Amino acid sequence: MKRDLLSLADLEREEILHIFSLTRRLKEKGEEAKRLSLLRGKVLGLIFHKPSMRTRVSFEVAMVHLGGHAMLLGNSEILLGERESVADVARVLSGYMDGLVIRTFDQALVEEVASCTSIPVINGLTDLLHPCQILAALYTIQERLGRLQGLKVVYVGDGNNVAHSWLLGAAKMGLDLTIACPPEYRPNPQIFSRALNLALTTGSKLMVLDNPLEAVRGAHIIYTDVWASMGQEQEKEDRAKAFSPYQVNAALLKAAGEQAYVMHCLPAHRGEEIISEVIDGPRSLVWEEAENRLHVQKAILIWLLGGEKAEKEFA
Ligand code: CP
Ligand code: NVA
Repeated sequence: MKRDLLSLADLEREEILHIFSLTRRLKEKGEEAKRLSLLRGKVLGLIFHKPSMRTRVSFEVAMVHLGGHAMLLGNSEILLGERESVADVARVLSGYMDGLVIRTFDQALVEEVASCTSIPVINGLTDLLHPCQILAALYTIQERLGRLQGLKVVYVGDGNNVAHSWLLGAAKMGLDLTIACPPEYRPNPQIFSRALNLALTTGSKLMVLDNPLEAVRGAHIIYTDVWASMGQEQEKEDRAKAFSPYQVNAALLKAAGEQAYVMHCLPAHRGEEIISEVIDGPRSLVWEEAENRLHVQKAILIWLLGGEKAEKEFA
């Protein structure tokens, strides 16, 4: 049966660890990992209804390095649900492609496409979730700190798509996660309760607090993201006011303690949610996380598109 990557809630803990093990082996191969032929003849379709730099470029490069091909399916040609039904587009694309990455607004659209195709569908970000980002974040943390279980992560800022995937990812992998945000920008309660349920198995502690200085005390990782996500541009000014006490700056880092690292999914708005001194400073893992998007996504593609044959060849 084909698998999709629509939400971290759909992945087993062992599958995430398997993706990380593939990633580590790919990274160990160095330059050789740019000339693999594990996905020879495979084509990945990319549908983007929002801007993207990292996600689109890293998936394209990943396919080139794995011997396959990526094809941007332009919005003026595809017109999902406008020129023809989502189901019809999905069904026809399954005959041409071996996988799809979709970045769009509504999580329901990604789920609908996935349910109508026989090929793996990867969520490249929706208003609700950003699973590939948090897989890269978790991998980076494991690579740097040597473990995940029991670490304290504090997400400071908007309870948005990235925060939601953090909740699910932390709950799956046994990290403690506190979200520090203004009361009116708390995460989606359904996602929070889903994560609490998942946390029953791993023992991860999940919390939402208002006070960022209190929340970050003892944190191993401080994570942040933009205050206004794509599609919320008209709320930018109101949000800037509400989030100004939530800036990741030197004072917040000091309150966390010397052990704290800082991460951000990017794009960053320097001087808003994070200051240059911190993002470019010695405690920043931001650039490692961005690079790891490529390596982790290669592993995801080998697992989802390559199947047993590619995994055996890579072993
Ligand atoms: N972090 C991230 O997903 O970046 P892009 O929006 O550039 O893809
Ligand atoms: N929350 C941000 C993440 C960008 C990668 C957005 O949705 O715009």
